[in-house]
Amino acid sequence: MGDRGVLALRPAVLADASAIAAINAAAGRAGWSGFLPRERLATFEPPVRRFEAMLGGGTDPGTVVHVATETEEIVGFVSVRSGEGEVGEVLSLYVHPSRWSRGVGRALLGHALETLSTSGCREAILWTEERNERPRRIYETAGWRLDGASRVRDFLGWRIREVRYRIALADEPSRSSGAGSRSGRTGSQRRSSSG
Ligand SMILES: CC(C)(COP(=O)(O)OP(=O)(O)OC[C@H]1O[C@@H](n2cnc3c(N)ncnc32)[C@H](O)[C@@H]1OP(=O)(O)O)[C@@H](O)C(=O)NCCC(=O)NCCS
Repeated sequence: MGDRGVLALRPAVLADASAIAAINAAAGRAGWSGFLPRERLATFEPPVRRFEAMLGGGTDPGTVVHVATETEEIVGFVSVRSGEGEVGEVLSLYVHPSRWSRGVGRALLGHALETLSTSGCREAILWTEERNERPRRIYETAGWRLDGASRVRDFLGWRIREVRYRIALADEPSRSSGAGSRSGRTGSQRRSSSG
């Protein structure tokens, strides 16, 4: 990775697919090594084609990807989907391990909630592996709360159990009775009544 610079956020484009896929694999391998076998994680190849298809508009309708850049180098990404009524979902949040613990993840998460709020969502959900402590701390500090749902699925041939977090989003100004409350940023989020 290159020199560190000012953090910026922008929508992803098709040409970003390889860089995003590389961060997906690098962050996954580093972040999940505490609860998944390293030999399994070693088989996690960058899913370039999946992101090419997604960013090319061929799959995942309604999914929006944003990247975080430093001096134009992509260092992380987040994807959201606002398709189902007023409940949006944060689908993925990944930062390259060389840039962890510098606020990139939190910035991407805040931006994701602003995107969902702007799309008309009043609530957001996300799923995460129950042993994935690092992001869980970030979610809980930001006001996300477990809503009681869980699911079991296969990842690289390994059984993982995911728990669901939920958060209420600030109102759009047009919907709000008060002034200026629209923001997905951490400081203006309200806790979900369900969490
Ligand atoms: C989860 C993930 C995205 C977090 O990214 P990140 O950029 O390290 O996140 P942040 O820096 O915003 O916050 C993480 C920690 O850094 C700390 N931090 C934030 N800004 C900081 C700064 N300027 N200086 C020092 N530390 C800082 C935070 O306090 C936080 O620490 P804490 O968890 O002990 O409270 C990253 O670890 C990752 O890609 N993990 C693997 C993929 C994954 O599991 N994603 C989630 C799927 S649900």
